[in-house]
Amino acid sequence: MIEKILNKNEFSKEDIIYLLNCKGNERALLFEKSSEVKSKFIGNKVYLRGLVEFSNICCKNCYYCGIRKDNENVKRYNISDSEILESVKFAYRNNYGSVVLQSGELQSNKFSARIENLLKEIKKISNNELGITLSCGEQSEETYRRWFNSGAHRYLLRIEASNKELYKKLHPENELHSWEKRVECLKLLKKLDYQTGTGVMIGLPFQTIENLAEDLLFMKNLDIAMCGMGPYLEHEETPLYKYSNLLDPKNERFEMTMKMISILRIMMPKINIAATTALQAIDKIGREKIIKIGANILMPNITPGKYRDDYDLYMNKPCTDDSADDCKNCLEARIKIAGAEIGYGEWGDSLHFKEKNIENL
Ligand code: 5AD
Ligand code: SF4
Ligand code: FES
Repeated sequence: MIEKILNKNEFSKEDIIYLLNCKGNERALLFEKSSEVKSKFIGNKVYLRGLVEFSNICCKNCYYCGIRKDNENVKRYNISDSEILESVKFAYRNNYGSVVLQSGELQSNKFSARIENLLKEIKKISNNELGITLSCGEQSEETYRRWFNSGAHRYLLRIEASNKELYKKLHPENELHSWEKRVECLKLLKKLDYQTGTGVMIGLPFQTIENLAEDLLFMKNLDIAMCGMGPYLEHEETPLYKYSNLLDPKNERFEMTMKMISILRIMMPKINIAATTALQAIDKIGREKIIKIGANILMPNITPGKYRDDYDLYMNKPCTDDSADDCKNCLEARIKIAGAEIGYGEWGDSLHFKEKNIENL
C-alpha cells in the first residue's frame, strides 16, 4: 500500500493522512524515500543561517507564545544595532554564509527604518557576501519593498496553522491577528520576489491529522521556497497552557514533526527545509534525525549570550546558556554524525526558487 503512494507524483489529502499515520516498516520506508529524494535533488550539504533574535518586544498576543505582549513576566530587550552587528561579524568571520534577523512583531516607521539601516550595514561589513533572511512578521507592502531593496532576499513568516478555524483558536479574534492578512503578507512577499518561507507548529491542542495534511498542501499550493516547522511546546505563562491535557506526549509531537518534514521533502524536493531549535528541546539529537530524513538548513543561535534566556517562546529552549562559539563547535560535530557536510560560505539558496526564476526568464 505505502509503496503505491510513495511512487505517485502528487499526494492527495488522503495519501498524506495515510503517510502521517504509518508505523513500523512503512514508517521506515517513508523515511528511506525522503532521504533518497533529498540526496538525489539537493545532496548532503547543510547550510547555516546565524540567527539573531534581536528583540522580544511584540505587539501581538498569540495564545501559544511565551513573549506575547500581555505576558508581564518577560524581561523585554532590544539589542542595540552595534551588538547586532557584532553578532553578524561573528557569522561572517566563521563563514556562515547567511544570517537571520528575527524579532517580535512591531509595525512602525521607526522599526522599518531601523531594519533598513541594519540591512545596509550588514551588506557593508560583509562586502555584500552575507545572505540575509528576515523574520519580523506582518508588514506593509512598502516596508517589505524597502527591506528587499536594502538587501534582504529571504523572508520567513509562518502561517502557524493553515486551517482558518484552528488559527482562530490560537489567536485573539481581531484585525491584528487575521489569518487572511497573514496569507496576504505571504503573497506579497512572493510578489516582491523574496524567497518566501512559511511553516506551522505541530501537535497543537485542537489540531487534527487532517489539519496537518492541509498544512502540507497549503505549502505546496503556495509554492513556497523554504519551510521551518516544529513541534508545539507549551509555555506556562500563556493562555493555551490550560489545554495541555489535550496534548500528545512530546515524543509523539516529535515523531509527527519527522513525518511532516519527510513528506514535505518528497512533495517539494528542492525547497530549503530547516531543522528547528524546538526539535532539539524534545530530543537531544532531534535536529540530526531531521537532517537525515529531509532538512538541509540549520540556524545556529548567534544572539549575544546575555539576551538568550529572554527570547523564551516555549519552555526549556536549548542553547540558551551557550555562547555562539560553543554552538559552532557543537554543531560541527552534530552535522558529521548526521552524515552531512556544512556548506561554509555559501548562501545555499532554495534550488526550487532559483530554478523557477530561470524558467520565467
Ligand atoms: N511552541 C513552539 N513554537 C512556538 N512559536 C511561538 N510559540 C511557540 C511555542 N509555544 C514559534 C511560532 C513563531 C516562531 C517564531 O516561534 O511558530 O512563528
Ligand atoms: Fe509575537 Fe510571534 Fe510570539 Fe505571536 S508568535 S506573540 S507574533 S513573537
Ligand atoms: Fe547550540 Fe549545540 S547547537 S550548543
